[in-house]
Amino acid sequence: MSKKNECMHYQKCLENETISIPPQFRPGCTEESDLDDIDTSRHTDRHCHEAEKRTLWPFVWQMVARVEELDDPGDYIVYDIVDQSFIVVKTEDNEIKAFYNSCLHRGRSLVENNGCVTEFKCPYHGFSWRLNGKLKSIPSAWDFKQFAARPKSETCLPEVLVDSWGGFIFINMDLNAIPLKAYLGVLPEHFNRWPIEKSKKVLHVSKKIPANWKTTQEAFMESLHARGIHQQMLPYIGDEYTQYDTYGENISRAMTVIGVSSPALAEKLSEEKIAESYLGNNLDKKTEGLLRSTTDARKTLITIKRERISKKLNIDMSDFLDSEIIDEYMYCVFPNFSPWKGLDSTMIYRFRPNGDDHRSCIMDVIFLSCSTSDDKYERPKTTCLGLDEPFSNAKELGGLATVLDQDVDNLVYVDKGLRAAKKKRMLLSGYQEKIIKNFHSTLDKYLKVSE
Ligand code: FES
Ligand SMILES: [Fe+2]
Repeated sequence: MSKKNECMHYQKCLENETISIPPQFRPGCTEESDLDDIDTSRHTDRHCHEAEKRTLWPFVWQMVARVEELDDPGDYIVYDIVDQSFIVVKTEDNEIKAFYNSCLHRGRSLVENNGCVTEFKCPYHGFSWRLNGKLKSIPSAWDFKQFAARPKSETCLPEVLVDSWGGFIFINMDLNAIPLKAYLGVLPEHFNRWPIEKSKKVLHVSKKIPANWKTTQEAFMESLHARGIHQQMLPYIGDEYTQYDTYGENISRAMTVIGVSSPALAEKLSEEKIAESYLGNNLDKKTEGLLRSTTDARKTLITIKRERISKKLNIDMSDFLDSEIIDEYMYCVFPNFSPWKGLDSTMIYRFRPNGDDHRSCIMDVIFLSCSTSDDKYERPKTTCLGLDEPFSNAKELGGLATVLDQDVDNLVYVDKGLRAAKKKRMLLSGYQEKIIKNFHSTLDKYLKVSE
């Protein structure tokens, strides 16, 4: 770690904690990766996309839905990845199953949008299957005698593996894949302090972005870019103090210090200004009073947030670290799923190629909320944004939309520059781009199989 960021790095903040610190907050793997540059053709060329189709997507666990989205038998969601499509459904036996979204007659996709059904009936000629994937009926049955006579295993909809963790449903096309629990490594243990299982999806924005899915995802894997792209955050985000950890091939983490200014900020701000820049306008009188008298922005923000979260969850928050109240922890699960730490609310990012196009991708932004209210849960509608529609069109994102649009505006030029590069290499830093390096080391292992 450089001398510069030692003055306020994440571990230094933990010294002020008054409760004992669980081990997961300490640094993970401290080994330095020797990967310091990457061939940019994997971001720009079709060959890598084709290799990913053969050796990556069919072999990894992919987060496809939340359990609360499949509440009743017949509830289903459609998950598309590159040129593959899957139906994830709750059966009459309350089991969750996932099938290839393709009719066994002449191949039409069975369903297009999420919904609730009593059977899967192909709109083309009317073959139908039960929710558990068993063949239900054949049109002009007299004419398909050979098909009906086949063993059941051939007339059922083909399945993929399904498992869940923390209320997230995952699928894996590889029927011999390692179990999800083993794949996720330390993740469940790290999240066991937070009510992710009890949380429910309250917001989903799905946006197409004109850059490769890896180029896009990498823009969310480090805090260093705040100084270039999100300068409005520098008063309250300790970008360079972020702790980056890796835990084997599949899990990485970034913990960013909030409530202190970035070392990149030229002017020294008052503590009041730091706190104010984090909270924005529209403050109540009590909060305004706390801000006016603050001598330590981070401490004051922790007090305010602790009270707000405690009120919302209706629990005593004294077992939680100050850091858990205020800092941002982002986990990255290989290849494309990023759940953030969540107490009262949890943010999720997911990145996929936009269909079979390697030059654009789909970024999903999902929020979960842990509510104590007894109101009946209502699934949010997904807001879909095209390539030219900014995140700010999704009003439900509030101020986050501005930040995300800054990232997207920048990505257009990252994609352009990567194509124009003479050396076709990108450089990576020793520490702050550790998550990107871990991602590519793991990707290498999958892609090598196809060489
Ligand atoms: S393609 Fe589905 S019933 Fe014919
Ligand atoms: Fe960003």
